[in-house]
Amino acid sequence: MRRAMADAEVGDDVFGDDPTVNRLQDYAAELCGLETALWFPTGTQSNLAALMSHCGRGDEYLVGQEAHTYRFEAGGAAVLGSIQPQPLTNRADGTLDLAEVEAAIKPDDPHFARTRLFALENTISGRVLPPDYVTAALDLARRRALATHLDGARLFNAAAHLKAPVETLCRGFDSVSICLSKGLGAPAGTLLLGPREFIAEARRHRKILGGGLRQAGIFAAAGLYALEHHVARLVEDHANAERLAAGLAAAGFEISSAQTNMVFVRAPRGLAEHLAKNQIKILPGERLRLVTHLDVAADDIGRVLDVARTFLN
Ligand SMILES: Cc1ncc(COP(=O)(O)O)c(C=O)c1O
Repeated sequence: MRRAMADAEVGDDVFGDDPTVNRLQDYAAELCGLETALWFPTGTQSNLAALMSHCGRGDEYLVGQEAHTYRFEAGGAAVLGSIQPQPLTNRADGTLDLAEVEAAIKPDDPHFARTRLFALENTISGRVLPPDYVTAALDLARRRALATHLDGARLFNAAAHLKAPVETLCRGFDSVSICLSKGLGAPAGTLLLGPREFIAEARRHRKILGGGLRQAGIFAAAGLYALEHHVARLVEDHANAERLAAGLAAAGFEISSAQTNMVFVRAPRGLAEHLAKNQIKILPGERLRLVTHLDVAADDIGRVLDVARTFLN
């Protein structure tokens, strides 16, 4: 990947003439079955540009309480987009009750914000949205004239779990955001995909948000490398997560089971310190999120399990 980055042919992406960025965008659009794509430095910026392209000032979007755009992006939609979020409770599997979603759509009345958009996330905290649920959610949005956005930061993990082409998971959405960092291993980069006119609007918002980079081809080369070399191996991360979850559960830890690359563990007091003493660094907290990725080898899982077992003993 570093070699591909060093060798990348570059231009000025602010003018849309960086050949490597253009190649990545075209490749991703084809792969995902959407008309066109736009590279962003981060997923947060891609999501926010998408929300701002779908919604204007005083509009509203429907979203899960646990969704990244609502909970973990510092309220950007409200702060920078003047967009009102309408958060709804996620069920244990990450889905929303679609009757609740429909009931939350505001009538056309000057008392209310205008409900414009329904945003989903797949995977959501490592859980894959059931395809039937996604179909029903898209049907609801269409019937009620709402636009749809998919935060697919880890959509390739969902596709790997379902053994389905990623294109089928994008189908029917007006816009999709997919991260090239995280499990795919690029140092930066997210693609926002959608129709040409929508992406032209998103390009304006990317500029407003300070995301117009010049020789972005250096990053795009990493993104291309990630798509070409790091997608097929995601199943290894899933197998590692499954082994980690099974090993921790067998040792007596309370875990929520891994569908893709995440394991959540209720952490007894002192676990983080015990792991740290054994050169395993984690973000401390009551509920630990353990994520497998291309820099975590199968041997590492064995080591984490050994150290975690000694903690309980
Ligand atoms: C589901 C989801 N969406 C979006 C983002 C934002 O990505 P970034 O960290 O590149 O801004 C993340 C980051 O972890 C995420 O988990």
